[in-house]
Formats: sequence, C-alpha cells, structure tokens
Amino acid sequence: MIVTTDQLFQAAYGKFAVGAYNINNMEQALGLFEGHQRAQAPFIVQISRGARSYAGVIMLEAILRAADDIYPKSIFAVHLDHGDEETCYDCIESGFYSSVMIDASHYPFEKNIAITTRVVERAHARGLSVESELGMLGGVEEDIAVDEKHAKLTDPDEAEVFVKRTGCDSLAVAIGTSHGAYKFQGESKLHLDRIEAIQKLLPGLPLVMHGSSSVPQEEVERINAAGGAMDPSAKGVDENEFTKAIPFGVTKVNIDTDGRLVWTRVHREHFRDYPANFDFRKPGAVLIDEYAEFIVHKSRKLLSYAQLETVRQRLQV
Ligand code: G3H
Ligand code: 13P
Ligand code: ZN
Repeated sequence: MIVTTDQLFQAAYGKFAVGAYNINNMEQALGLFEGHQRAQAPFIVQISRGARSYAGVIMLEAILRAADDIYPKSIFAVHLDHGDEETCYDCIESGFYSSVMIDASHYPFEKNIAITTRVVERAHARGLSVESELGMLGGVEEDIAVDEKHAKLTDPDEAEVFVKRTGCDSLAVAIGTSHGAYKFQGESKLHLDRIEAIQKLLPGLPLVMHGSSSVPQEEVERINAAGGAMDPSAKGVDENEFTKAIPFGVTKVNIDTDGRLVWTRVHREHFRDYPANFDFRKPGAVLIDEYAEFIVHKSRKLLSYAQLETVRQRLQV
C-alpha cells in the first residue's frame, strides 16, 4: 500500500535507510515490487521528470497501482525525484504522490529558499512532505550538468538556516557523490563528517543521499564483455558506507544507475547468447528476476531487509 514518506522516515530514522528507486517501465516495477517482497522491506518509488515524459504520467500511475494490487503486502511511498516548481505543483495536485523533491539547488541560496518555501506551503496544505536540496552533486541531474569542479558540498550552517526558513521535511545533501556511473576518480570517498555536522545542527531531520549507486565493477566488465563500451574506470559509492551514514540521519538512499546497469547487462548478454531471438519477453523475464535479486542485495546493505513487519505494526496497516 502507498503510505506517506514521513511515515517511512519516522520508522527508519537512525535504524535503516529506505531505498529510493527510479521507475520507468513495467519490467522495472515488477522487479522492484518482487524484490521488496523477497526482502520484506519498505521502499520509495521515485518518478523523475524524464520518466514522466518517457512513459507518461497516466501510464506510470497505472503501472504502480497495478503493482500495488499484485503485491498487496508491499509498503511504499511515491516520490517526485528532482522536481522543478511546476512539476511539484502538478504532482501535489494529482493526489497520487506521497512527497515531492524540489530541486532548486542550482540557484543562489536566497532563490533556492524562496522556491522551496513556496513548494513546501503548497505541499503541506495537501498533506505531502517535501525534500529539498542544498549544495551541488557532480554529474548530470535531469538536464543540468554540474561538472566536478562546480560540485559543492553542503555547508552545515547554511543547511540549518535553509531548513528552518523553508520548513522542508528532508534534505538532500551533497557529500561527495554524483549522479551516473562515473562518480570517483581514484578512491571513492564520502564526506561523512559533513552529515555528522549537519545532524548535530538538525537532529532528527531525515537526510537524503543522491547519487548512491555502487556501479559494481563486475557489472561493467560483463556489459563490456557482451559488446558494451563503458569506461572501465566507472566507479560508484562503496555500499559498506551506508551503515556508517545511517546513524548520522541518512534515511533515504537514491539508486537509479545500478538498476540501469542490470538492465543493460541482462539485455546485452541475452542478445549475445541468443542472437537469433527477437522475443523481448525472454530477456524481460530474466530482467525482472535479476532486478528483484538486485533489490534484495541493496535492502541488506541499507538495513531495510526484514523491516516490513516492524513498519506495518508501527503504522498499524
Ligand atoms: O537523478 C536522476 C535520476 O537518475 C533520474 O534520471 O532524469 O534520466 O530519469 P532521469
Ligand atoms: P545514481 O545515478 O547514483 O543511481 O543516483 C540516482 C539519484 O540520485 C536519483 O535521484
Ligand atoms: Zn538524484
């Protein structure tokens, strides 16, 4: 069932992180729900503006409502990922979403505050919560590219002012991650001291880690062995860092790229091994199962594995 993002955050804060996965099509949705059933974990489904224009808002909502019917024991929230102001309002008014992210982090501080405050007012009036972003991740967010030089870690003092003035419910922090498959050159390093400092000033505020894919080396190698041409230096976040970040208030962890790698590997290997096949359901069925196993693995790393019953009891659903 669809619950509010706040409900999940209250259950998770300090104990585990809720995995937030981007969804674009039916196969991904089936793998996502199946995986969380296998893992007995709550989760957040994220819809980006790109997904909304790719599949269409009517189709995405129908896919998620159908998945909810097929997996009636699932507990999840529906969230707009990297929204602009207009898309936030559209989602708020739609009645389908649990929460929205307003990403005005590329604007100057005061403008980010003004936009975020407007979205918070509209969202709260409708019972939705709001994730905002302060600081800048590297990589590509929707259509805005932020190169590494311009990526800016979140400043804890600014974060305190920002959250108090906007009234946002959770905060996406820049602590060294970036979107996509090429996050680090050399050692992968998260600035955990930043989230520790932010938590000291904003105790209890759920923090969100974007750009949290781990980009497994083995996936990249298998993709390339099956005809892909990814840069072998692709590197992501060390999954073992999640357990260190959770006590500092990291409650939501965004993962998209790793799921794309699963899709790419499954399809490349399938068509390499069965070049005469043209029935897309064959790799599609493999993808659903592999995606589900990928979710089980992530749930263990996020400590959300086997938390479903506790959350159900807490929410009395
Ligand atoms: O942070 C962005 C997510 O990975 C969504 O990507 O905008 O291509 O759907 P997208
Ligand atoms: P990745 O590119 O690391 O999967 O990050 C996804 C994300 O932050 C979505 O908002
Ligand atoms: Zn993101």
